[in-house]
Amino acid sequence: MQVGHPPIIAIFLLLLGHSMGQLRRTTINRQINGNRTHANVKAEKIVLAAKYFLVDKQSSQTTQVLTNGFNLEYTIRVCIGTPPQCFNLQFDTGSSDLWVPSVKCPSTNVACQEHNKYNSSASSTYVEDGGGFSLEYGTGSLLGFRSRDTVNIDGMVIRNQTFVEAVDEPGSAFVDVIFDGIIGMAFASLSGGITTPFDNIIRQGLVQRPVFSVYLRRDGSSQSGGEVIWGGIDRSIYRGCINYVPVSLPAYWQFTVNSVKVRDILLCNGCQAIADTGTSLIVVPLRAYNAINRALNATDNGEGEAFVDCSNLCKLPNFNLNIGGSTYTLTPKDYIYKLQDNNQTLCLSGFSYLEGNLLWILGDIFLGTVYTVFDVGQERIGFAKLKKNSTYGIYRPTYVREPPSYGIDYSFYGDVYYRYFT
Ligand SMILES: *[C@@H]1O[C@H](CO)[C@@H](O)[C@H](O)[C@H]1NC(C)=O
Ligand SMILES: *[C@@H]1O[C@H](CO)[C@@H](O)[C@H](O)[C@H]1NC(C)=O
Ligand SMILES: *[C@@H]1O[C@H](CO)[C@@H](O)[C@H](O)[C@H]1NC(C)=O
Ligand SMILES: *[C@@H]1O[C@H](CO)[C@@H](O)[C@H](O)[C@H]1NC(C)=O
Ligand SMILES: *[C@@H]1O[C@H](CO)[C@@H](O)[C@H](O)[C@H]1NC(C)=O
Ligand SMILES: *[C@@H]1O[C@H](CO)[C@@H](O)[C@H](O)[C@H]1NC(C)=O
Repeated sequence: MQVGHPPIIAIFLLLLGHSMGQLRRTTINRQINGNRTHANVKAEKIVLAAKYFLVDKQSSQTTQVLTNGFNLEYTIRVCIGTPPQCFNLQFDTGSSDLWVPSVKCPSTNVACQEHNKYNSSASSTYVEDGGGFSLEYGTGSLLGFRSRDTVNIDGMVIRNQTFVEAVDEPGSAFVDVIFDGIIGMAFASLSGGITTPFDNIIRQGLVQRPVFSVYLRRDGSSQSGGEVIWGGIDRSIYRGCINYVPVSLPAYWQFTVNSVKVRDILLCNGCQAIADTGTSLIVVPLRAYNAINRALNATDNGEGEAFVDCSNLCKLPNFNLNIGGSTYTLTPKDYIYKLQDNNQTLCLSGFSYLEGNLLWILGDIFLGTVYTVFDVGQERIGFAKLKKNSTYGIYRPTYVREPPSYGIDYSFYGDVYYRYFT
């Protein structure tokens, strides 16, 4: 009888070792590419409108091209082909395609020329697919074709991954951005049924559990933008429990928010929300947008952007989101951006509006305050509170008085405050 025990223990230890070994971590990079301007916000909204299949009327009516793109983005390093050709890709839970610029793009396409490009002739594992791809923007389209190759994310080798080689990128939206392309982390229904990288990771047994989890760092001093933990959950990152809610519809990472309140105003009573790491903003329906601006005494510029008085930030209210019975609070430090516009500092509300949108698109303003578990297997999304610990997520000293208003450049309101006291 006794003889049986050591092997059982050995197997147990082996399994334990195996499961720990499967928790791969990928560093999310965050690069600050100059000063955030009003034009960045506009460009971000044009890209968002395309992503959510909304026509951005503002942009299609004017000749103003997509200047500047974004300048604050969360990216990961992904390599394609054999030998590997590496790219810096936006980590986007709000879309499902993987696209990179192609060497086949015309020399006139500046966005393509200024980024890393995939060359299928230089890869021994390339397989032709031939499918087409287009994504409509107000001012043009992202055009490309599908190819297949081996994709390597931090040592996870995904075979036969279908992706898009982009040959035409619209306007100048993608010219100045730090990312070469995008890796979409939402469900395959958004990519026309093309197997997503994470679905292939699951099918090819590269993770033990069909889950990835993410935290984003928001402190301005660091280039480390957080981490993706593949195949599981790291208990050292959060405190309390993970609060799961079902995915309402497996396309975007969409779920129900019970309520959102500011002062005693109910902004949403059972509304649909989306967790989108690919936007910095929170985009809300028009009625909520107007109510928020009244609560913040913010002035809309006629283009769906609202500005508050920079000298009054400490008097602004908190927002409380009730998700699955737990409350998540956004403070002014989370939702106010300071922008530079012609020598002038403007305080932009992170709550924005897009014509025709009925969803609460929760971008980095919200996702930067929590640890998020994207549970593909059980089609649910979980949120946990970050440990109050400077290693992870946001670390903020107690908010005691108004931050200083000296040379604020690209930073979040909260970051400036953080650095001032550090
Ligand atoms: C950002 O703005 C600050 C203050 O206006 C300025 O000193 C700095 O040169 C700007 N940086 C870039 C990259 O434009
Ligand atoms: C693509 O790779 C092939 C094979 O290595 C090489 O001959 C060709 O010059 C490359 N094309 C470009 C545009 O770099
Ligand atoms: C590669 O993927 C394509 C598209 O998903 C599929 O049709 C094909 O059978 C796969 N090939 C292999 C060898 O798995
Ligand atoms: C924060 O948490 C991590 C992981 O638990 C730990 O290694 C680190 O020492 C903690 N840092 C502080 C400042 O408490
Ligand atoms: C609201 O903003 C306007 C214009 O910025 C200002 O004149 C007014 O005093 C503000 N009201 C409150 C209650 O803060
Ligand atoms: C910004 O301020 C500097 C110095 O005060 C001035 O020379 C420059 O013309 C101003 N730029 C704009 C766009 O107002």
